[in-house]
Order: sequence, then C-alpha cells, then structure tokens
Amino acid sequence: MAISTTFRSIFWPYILAMALTPQWVSLAQLQVGFYSNSCPNAESIVSSVVREFAQSDVTILAALLRLHYHDCIVQGCDGSVLIQQPAGAGNLEKSAQNHAGLRGFEVIDRAKEQLEAQCPGVVSCADILALAARDSVFLSRGPFYELPTGRRDGRVSNVSDADNMPEVHESIDVLKAKFAAKGLSGNDLVLLSAAHTIGTTACFFLESRLYNFGGRGGSDPSINPSFLPELESQCPQGGDVNVRLPLDRGSETVFDAQILRNIRSGFAAIESDAQLYADPSTRAIVDSYLDPLSPLFGPFFRSDFADSMVRMGRIGVRTGVDGEVRRNCSAFN
Ligand code: HEM
Ligand SMILES: *[C@@H]1O[C@H](CO)[C@@H](O)[C@H](O)[C@H]1NC(C)=O
Ligand SMILES: *[C@@H]1O[C@H](CO)[C@@H](O)[C@H](O)[C@H]1NC(C)=O
Repeated sequence: MAISTTFRSIFWPYILAMALTPQWVSLAQLQVGFYSNSCPNAESIVSSVVREFAQSDVTILAALLRLHYHDCIVQGCDGSVLIQQPAGAGNLEKSAQNHAGLRGFEVIDRAKEQLEAQCPGVVSCADILALAARDSVFLSRGPFYELPTGRRDGRVSNVSDADNMPEVHESIDVLKAKFAAKGLSGNDLVLLSAAHTIGTTACFFLESRLYNFGGRGGSDPSINPSFLPELESQCPQGGDVNVRLPLDRGSETVFDAQILRNIRSGFAAIESDAQLYADPSTRAIVDSYLDPLSPLFGPFFRSDFADSMVRMGRIGVRTGVDGEVRRNCSAFN
C-alpha cells in the first residue's frame, strides 16, 4: 500500500511529463536544438563556416539565403537543389533554368566536411542550408531566430520539379497562388520577398521590364521616373545581361526595411517586388510595416520576417526515418 502510493506520487508526474514532452509526442517533427545531444556543435560549426566565407566575400550571405529558398520551394526543404551527381546528367534539378546563378554550394560543402569529421552521418544537408540561411540573415544585421531542425535529405533530383517555381514576371495572383500551394500566405509573400533587402540581380531579369514591358515595348510604368534612367544606364538595351545591380537600391548588404520603402516608392529592381505595391492586399501589408507607429506597436518587420523564414523552412520537410542524412551534400548516399 505504502509502496504503491509512493510509486504514484513520485513516478506518475514523471511519466505524465514524459508523455507530454515534445520529443515523445512528436518524434517526427522539427524541433529547436534537434542536434543538441547528437552533435552539440552543429549550429556553431555552420555559423563559423558562414562567417569565415563572408569575411572574404560578403555577397555570399545573400547567395545562401536564396539557396535555402530555392531548396524549399521545390519539393520541400530536402537539399535536392544541392545534388550534382551523376555528373553530366541533364535532368538534375540543379540544372533548371529557374535555378540559374545559384551560388554558395562550396559553403555548404565545407560545413558538411567539418560536421562529418565531428559527428559522421548526423546532420542533414537540408538543415545545413536552413542554418546557413539563418546565419546569413543575422550576419547581415537582420534578426536572429531559433531554427527548428531535424530535416532529412531527399532522394530525388529532377529538373522538371523546378518548372513551377514563382517567376519574376508572373502576376501577383499567380505568385500568391504558388505561395499558397506551399502553405504560405500573402503576408509571407511580402515578408519573404523582402529577403531582397540583401543581394543583387542580373540585368537579365530586368530586360523585359525596361524595354518590352508586357510585350508592348517600353518600360514598366510602376518604375519611379527618377529611377528609370538609372536602371537603363545600368542595364542598357542589348547590353551584357550578366551585369548585376542591387535588388534593394542603396542598401544591398544590410538587412533592413529599406526594401519595403523602395517597393513603396517605385524603386524596386525586379517586377515581382514592384507588384507587391500594385495589389491592394499586399500593398496594405507593405504599408503596415512602414507605418511610423510600427516600431512601437507593430507589426514588427524583423520578427515577422523571422517567423516567415521558419514557416518557409517547414515546407515539405522529411523527418524521422524518411529520406536520409547525406554524407556528401552533392551526392545521394
Ligand atoms: C516571389 C518569389 C521570388 C521571385 C520571383 C524572386 C526572384 C529573384 C530574382 C530574379 C533574383 C535575381 C537572381 C540573380 O540574378 O542571380 C533573386 C535574388 C535573390 N532572392 Fe529572390 N525571388 C523570390 C523570392 C525569394 C525568397 C522567398 C527569398 C528568401 C527568403 C529570396 C531571396 C533572394 C536573395 C537573397 C537574392 C539575392 C541573391 C544574390 O545576391 O546572390 N527570394 N530573386
Ligand atoms: C521527372 O519528373 C517528371 C514529371 O513529374 C517525370 O515525368 C519524369 O519521369 C521524372 N524523371 C525522372 C528521371 O524520374
Ligand atoms: C562529394 O561528391 C562530389 C560529387 O560526387 C565529389 O566531387 C566530391 O569530391 C565529394 N566530396 C567529398 C568530400 O567526398
């Protein structure tokens, strides 16, 4: 009798607590600190590698942020964009036109090498990408956020999977629909597009916006008249389409709300960003972050951006025993 009472009073709360602890009820979900036992230095290894690369080339930060987005939007955040083997196979996802110009693969490879040396077979490439993007935002003076990890790497790389990505000349309704199909809202579309607060675009993506807008010749009327000559001289008609210019005029290395101000005043470089101010619902969202009272009473751009990044990082993830943990990020095991 005494023993059983003791048993109940001592162990019952413990059993209950275990049953309610996230690890027990959700073995197959992402969680913050997923590697805290299996590879305690995982997050610090990734951040020190990103920091090291950024010291010699700060533009790598924008590249890594974009790389994580391109991973997630195609077949979920599963590292599929990283696959390079078998070499020469034309049907690899990486060779898709929509992925043209992606950079930063060597950063992921370096982090993976160091992680394999410390904890072989533990940290997925999809998580390395997500962590590198998180660190890139922070190192650009953006918000730091806790990132749920535990993604597993996918075993498919198929070029046609990238066919349906959001594209720069698509209408705002199509962009919204494509985000919605991945569980992301119009709010997320605005916030995540604001990732263009860092980085650059090739003139390639401005050609039709400047010289043949909507197939009618001429330029996009939403470009601020004082910005148009600047764009035309940076990207002259018939010029080199590989020349690069800031997505966020005047503030391309610092994570800040300047991109939203630029979008509001007709200084967005690319059409998909400009359209965020042409559509009434997304315009209201842009305006809400620029309200003079927003820094005091919200909505808060930095923290909402971080929340959107976490949501994007959950798209189609594989967890538990699904997929694999690649030993080499550019090849399946
Ligand atoms: C509506 C969807 C989007 C479209 C149409 C779009 C389009 C583009 C284009 C055309 C470029 C220039 C690429 C180049 O010339 O190399 C670019 C760059 C970039 N994108 Fe997006 N993007 C979208 C969403 C996102 C999202 C959701 C993120 C991240 C959360 C992101 C992050 C970036 C970054 C950081 C760059 C700069 C890359 C660099 O400087 O190397 N984009 N994007
Ligand atoms: C790639 O995906 C397309 C469209 O879903 C499919 O028809 C094709 O068979 C796939 N290719 C490979 C090599 O699996
Ligand atoms: C990873 O795989 C790629 C492609 O097969 C190969 O070129 C590279 O040397 C490998 N890296 C390591 C560290 O084994």
